[in-house]
Amino acid sequence: ANELPRLREVFGEHFHIGAAVNPRTLVTQKDLLTRHFNSLTAENEMKFVSVHPEEGRYTFEEADRLIDFAKENNMAVRGHTLVWHNQTPDWVFENRSGGAADRETLLSRMKSHIDEVVGRYKGRIYAWDVVNEAVTDSGDQLLRPSKWLEIAGEDFIAKAFEFAHAADPDALLFYNDYNESVPAKRDKIYSLVKSLTEREVPIHGVGLQAHWNLEHPTLDHIREAIERYASLGVKLHITELDVSVFAHEDRRTDLIAPTPEMLERQAERYGAFFKLFKEYSEHLTSVTFWGAADDYTWLDHFPVRGRKNWPFLFDAQHQPKAAFQTVLEAA
Ligand code: XIL
Repeated sequence: ANELPRLREVFGEHFHIGAAVNPRTLVTQKDLLTRHFNSLTAENEMKFVSVHPEEGRYTFEEADRLIDFAKENNMAVRGHTLVWHNQTPDWVFENRSGGAADRETLLSRMKSHIDEVVGRYKGRIYAWDVVNEAVTDSGDQLLRPSKWLEIAGEDFIAKAFEFAHAADPDALLFYNDYNESVPAKRDKIYSLVKSLTEREVPIHGVGLQAHWNLEHPTLDHIREAIERYASLGVKLHITELDVSVFAHEDRRTDLIAPTPEMLERQAERYGAFFKLFKEYSEHLTSVTFWGAADDYTWLDHFPVRGRKNWPFLFDAQHQPKAAFQTVLEAA
């Protein structure tokens, strides 16, 4: 097994191969991570609530540990994430009497947060997901209702990018979202990023989360999304790739192992994805999985609690699955 080709070497001239990690998997998956991956993302440890739980109190121990691990093992780090409607503490949006903060206060808190976090990792984190998931999945409205939008107005997005650029002018700044390949949402993300670039907001890329499954999105929809975003002249990163063996709405929680059909279909899908990524590697410069091996995935609890999933190239024992082979064949 030690003779297996390493993904980071196989795809080295095309794009980074990344994994999301947490304090536990950094230990339990250490060998796998260092063999195959050359980029890391913190699954939760750099989110607002993790690093800035109370106003002016920053907690960087876990984030620092990830940064040190990456440095020791010659890995790049993507920062995730600065401005999001989830995993952000309530104090950010409140005034001292518990009512809503005003716009100036919220924007000044956003600036302090970004200054501190981006500034701390200047030169260590080469790319940031500055704004995460700000676009609606359906309906006519472009931006998702959130405290950021409600209090600061729609230019909270441009402000976040400006603050991040000021804190580290060398960092690549991304807008990151899911359902990024669904045509209706794709067009909204496209128009948001287009308007930002036209206004000369410092944005350098679109992050495609790529939480996909055995059927969706179709390969055509993925290709169309990549082409459309690339036409804006920005970089593309695949930021959170996993391939669920279940349909989103499948509620069954009794399966204790993936079926052979699931693994075969998953392998086909992964092979086709990596062929496509390679084809667009002039624009697409990083492919990060939202985990590394099937012993741990956030999908074990989402969207159905206790529905075990097997979304990666490596099984729970860290051995290569059929999908690992098809990905190698795509190289
Ligand atoms: C998820 C983590 O994996 C979970 O551990 C946490 O409980 C919730 O967030 N889109 C994102 C990621 O941008 O930050 C999310 O990560 C998954 C969906």
